[in-house]
Amino acid sequence: MLRYTRKGDLVLDTFAGSGTTLIECRRLGRDGIGVELNAEIALKAKALIDQEPNPSSVKTEVIVGDSKTFDFQATLGEFGDRHAQLLIMHPPYDDIIAFSEDANDLSNCRTTEEFLTDFGQVVENATPVLEKGRFFALVIGDKYSKGQWVPLGFYCMQEVLKRGYLLKSVIVKNFDETRAKRDQRELWRYRALVGGFYVFKHEYIFVFQKR
Ligand SMILES: C[S@@+](CC[C@H](N)C(=O)[O-])C[C@H]1O[C@@H](n2cnc3c(N)ncnc32)[C@H](O)[C@@H]1O
Repeated sequence: MLRYTRKGDLVLDTFAGSGTTLIECRRLGRDGIGVELNAEIALKAKALIDQEPNPSSVKTEVIVGDSKTFDFQATLGEFGDRHAQLLIMHPPYDDIIAFSEDANDLSNCRTTEEFLTDFGQVVENATPVLEKGRFFALVIGDKYSKGQWVPLGFYCMQEVLKRGYLLKSVIVKNFDETRAKRDQRELWRYRALVGGFYVFKHEYIFVFQKR
């Protein structure tokens, strides 16, 4: 956010979860809109965001909705904005963690192909509100399934590129540096040894630019 936005810019997160993006918006003085499918998770996010001081008096809003069909244009209009200056997406990593039982939840897709179709739909739906020349950061990891490494990150990258974005950076984020995942180091080591894999300890941040 520091790299690609200025104070007062608007950040849009289509998979808001427990609100990390919007908490950072408050800390860094950016307006933020987050869309989250699961009403319970959205409620938790609101509580966490409200705990965060808001020294720049920015607007931070979590809205319950399905990002495949959500009317981003109307919501930005209500905010008094026509465009967002940064798009952030941190979708479910296919079916690795089920976030709800809702059929519209990307973590409930029956196949990886279906997941990619739905993810592509979210990208297509949100793209019109991203200002031309601005950036889109996608946070995503790969998965192991049925004895194989599934390069989910690169599949998702491809879905974004198909929609006309420029690829600007592939950032490899090490789990060891992620506080929440530090405890899982031994679990991944064990899985790697048993499954014949190398130790799995990274995910990606793909940075795209809208032409
Ligand atoms: C990996 S988590 C996001 C985590 C987030 N970055 C945070 O700070 O907690 C993915 C989120 O996407 C939500 N989700 C899944 N399908 C969705 C959809 N169709 N529209 C909006 N949100 C969706 C899930 O409920 C889940 O909270």
